[in-house]
Parts: sequence; C-alpha cells; structure tokens
Amino acid sequence: MNLPKKVRIVEVGPRDGLQNEKQAIPTAAKIQLIEMLVDAGLTYIEAGSFVNPKWVPQMADSAEVFAGINRKPNIIYAALVPNLQGYERAIGVNANEVAIFAAASEAFSQKNINCSISESIKRFEALISAAQVQRIPVRGYISCVAGCPYSGDVEPATVTSIAKELLAMGCYEISLGDTIGVGTAGQIKKLIEVVAQETPIEKLAVHMHDTYGQALTNIYASLEMGVNVIDSSVAGLGGCPYAVGASGNVATEDLVYLLNGLNIEHGVDLQKLIHAGNFISNILNKPNQSKVAKAMR
Ligand code: HMG
Ligand code: MG
Repeated sequence: MNLPKKVRIVEVGPRDGLQNEKQAIPTAAKIQLIEMLVDAGLTYIEAGSFVNPKWVPQMADSAEVFAGINRKPNIIYAALVPNLQGYERAIGVNANEVAIFAAASEAFSQKNINCSISESIKRFEALISAAQVQRIPVRGYISCVAGCPYSGDVEPATVTSIAKELLAMGCYEISLGDTIGVGTAGQIKKLIEVVAQETPIEKLAVHMHDTYGQALTNIYASLEMGVNVIDSSVAGLGGCPYAVGASGNVATEDLVYLLNGLNIEHGVDLQKLIHAGNFISNILNKPNQSKVAKAMR
C-alpha cells in the first residue's frame, strides 16, 4: 500500500461547520471552540469567513472571533474570503492565511458568489496581488468537483483547468471540494488521476462532505492516490447555504480514527478532539455527528 506517512489536517469546523447554522451562536463559544481545537493538536484552523454578512449571517462576527482568540505560536488561523474587500477585512484582524473559492460549475458559481467562474477568477487577481505583497499565503478551493446541486455532472477536465489557473495565479494548494457529498471512491480516484496529470499531487487537498456517507471512503481513496492534506470538520458539522440538502463535512474525529488505524501521523489527541466536538454540539443542542465520538462516549 502506498499511503502517506503523515497527513496535514485542515480543520474547517469553525467556518464550514458553523456557517450554515441558523441559530445564534455566541462569539465566545466560537472562540472557545477554536482554542479547544488548537489544544487538541490541530495546527490549521479555518476560523471564519469574510463574505457579505447578508449572504451568510452566521459569519458576521468573524472579525470579533479572530480578535478574541488567544493565539498560539505556529498555528495557522485562516479565513475564507471571496474578494479584495473580504481579504482586507481578514488581514485587518491578522488572519495568517486566506482561502479563496471558485466552483467547477457555472450554476453553483452564480448561486454561491453571484458571478461566473471566469469573473470569480478575475476578482481573485487583485486579492492575490495584495496577498503576495503582504506575503499572505492563499489557498484555493474548487467546489462541486464531483457534481453540482443545480446542473449535475461535472467533468474532471473542468476541475483540472480551474486548478491549473488558480495555482498559476499564486495559490499554494488546491482543495478539491465535494460540496454536496455525492462522489464515490472510483470517481474520486479518477478525478485525482486526471487533475494530477497537470498539477503536482503535493498541491492537492480533499474536502469531502458526507451527504451519501462516502466521505471517509473517498478520503481513503485519495490517500491511496498520494494526497496528504485533508479537510475535515469537528463533530461532522457543516454544509453550504447554497447547496441545499448537503450535509456536514467528514468528522475530524472519524478522520483521526482512520489515520490512527493506518499509522499515519497527524498530531491530534482524539480524546481532546471529542471533547471539543461535544462542546460545540451541546451549544448547538444537537447530537455529535461523529460516529467515533458517539462510539467512545
Ligand atoms: P454581490 O452582492 O455580488 O457583491 O456578492 P457586490 O460586490 O455587488 O457587493 C454587494 C454588497 O456586498 C456591497 O454592500 C458590498 O459592500 C458587500 P452594499 O453596498 O450593498 O451595502 N460586500 C461585502 N461585505 C462584506 N464582506 C465582503 C463583501 N463583498 C461584498 N467580502 C459576494 C458577492 C461574493 C460578496 C457574495 O456572493 C458572498 O458573500 N458570497 C459568499 C457565499 C458563501 O460564503 N458561501 C459559503 C462558503 S463556500 C463553501 O462553503 C464551499 C467550500 O466549503 C468548499 C466546498 O465544500 O466545496 C469552501
Ligand atoms: Mg465545504
């Protein structure tokens, strides 16, 4: 088996996990969650987003969240940003990194960010130029890599060309997002095979939602292909307001359990992580979606 020895986990719970929640979540609880995740050993936390608060009200307090975190050294506190305005807001509160997001489907691009794929890429130019001057690393997401909620099938060739374009513009890594969690292992392997023909595999990450229960299997398939950066969300929280019916991301607890079984290094303390997942699930007043957290209760 050709699996990586070490994996970098990108924890997206505080952003992707919470962005879709309708109820008010106290800013202090978001801050405490982030601090608990860091305490559990996670070193990369997507802590919030700087999008239009009218579009995603739950992330309206991201500036207060960033300002309130008791920062630890060598931890990346990243922000999701759609445009230069979002970038400037994120840098204003010392985000260490930003992530931009494009879609592999025109229909989803319109619904999610109100513009075409090519317009979105054009918008990113100014943002990336500013980030390069300020030496802020930019990560790139591509959504809907395994299917679109509005237009169905997505061609791997489309994903490949967007990945190439984002890398050429200056993104250091591309996270392939199965936004609606429809992909299956064979499809994801094929996708990575096609994308990796034109972009180095070391620059690819995967971001799996678990709507059809395939996220862990798809991650295993990605590990076998040589991917060693995996996005996940504590307690399996998550969803996108513009992908109706899509459920949470793969639970970080479940990912850690898988990696433990494979002897793949990741640096996370599972018990502390479960504690963090239970903490936020209690705040949200819903069951922890992680099967591992449920089993180890
Ligand atoms: P728009 O309405 O086309 O923007 O939205 P605009 O440039 O025409 O500006 C309209 C108004 O928005 C103006 O305010 C701007 O100031 C304001 P007004 O003059 O009307 O008062 N505005 C902003 N305010 C704060 N921060 C900003 C910002 N930008 C503009 N950054 C826009 C375009 C992209 C802003 C909007 O569509 C938007 O905010 N979309 C975000 C949608 C979103 O957050 N979706 C979820 C995240 S993506 C995801 O979850 C997928 C992912 O997890 C990967 C996967 O699963 O595949 C990443
Ligand atoms: Mg997502």
